Amino acid sequence: MTETTVAVREAHATDAAGIARVHVQSWRSTYPGLIPDSFLVGLSEPAAAARWRALAEARGPGHGAMVAVDATGHLTPDRTPGTIVGIASFGAWRTAMEDYAGEFHALYLLDEAKGLGIGRRLMAAMAERMLAANVGSAAVWCLSDNPSRWFYERLGGVRIAERPIRFAGASLLEVAYGWRDLAPLARLSAGPELR
Ligand SMILES: CC(C)(COP(=O)(O)OP(=O)(O)OC[C@H]1O[C@@H](n2cnc3c(N)ncnc32)[C@H](O)[C@@H]1OP(=O)(O)O)[C@@H](O)C(=O)NCCC(=O)NCCS
Repeated sequence: MTETTVAVREAHATDAAGIARVHVQSWRSTYPGLIPDSFLVGLSEPAAAARWRALAEARGPGHGAMVAVDATGHLTPDRTPGTIVGIASFGAWRTAMEDYAGEFHALYLLDEAKGLGIGRRLMAAMAERMLAANVGSAAVWCLSDNPSRWFYERLGGVRIAERPIRFAGASLLEVAYGWRDLAPLARLSAGPELR
């Protein structure tokens, strides 16, 4: 088997195009049947790039964006070394619930990069950065019909809330998973280099 090395690091503004590619591909892979096709068709890489560039530029204690980079280029069909295969962002908890300070805002992988521990490493990297900024707890909102929510349960997230939302003209249900203590999650990054 070919060895693959994936590095997890903070996102830079220059990553915006690569991040946007993952964002759009992952949304179109994850959300058909969950959110309206018209919204997925209308996703735009330049628009996503502009939003992620602003996020990367605005990073500071307790908020920012992360990328997982396939250094060897073995995961994607075009085999380009340095391809971004996973993206994540975090910041302040935006919901009126007092028990949580931070929020995992986004976490998306290319299909080719799933099942290799990259999602776990991105979550750990975000938890590490929140802890370094004295943000000791965090939560995430996820569509209740998204099977990826089991990933959050696997990582120790506890189901803490649900809420109906309107998104792109559809009525949807979201569930929240919370970590009252981010320390065990942050320690998950301490593992062998991905192969
Ligand atoms: C969710 C996501 C980030 C997980 O990343 P990943 O790299 O594939 O997950 P990992 O390999 O790090 O898995 C960590 C653990 O979670 C488990 N897991 C991952 N996805 C799972 C799923 N959908 N259901 C059940 N368990 C899952 C893995 O089996 C692994 O368990 P282990 O410790 O026993 O080996 C990825 O599947 C993804 O990008 N999904 C689509 C986008 C999405 O829905 N994001 C969330 C929006 S709220």
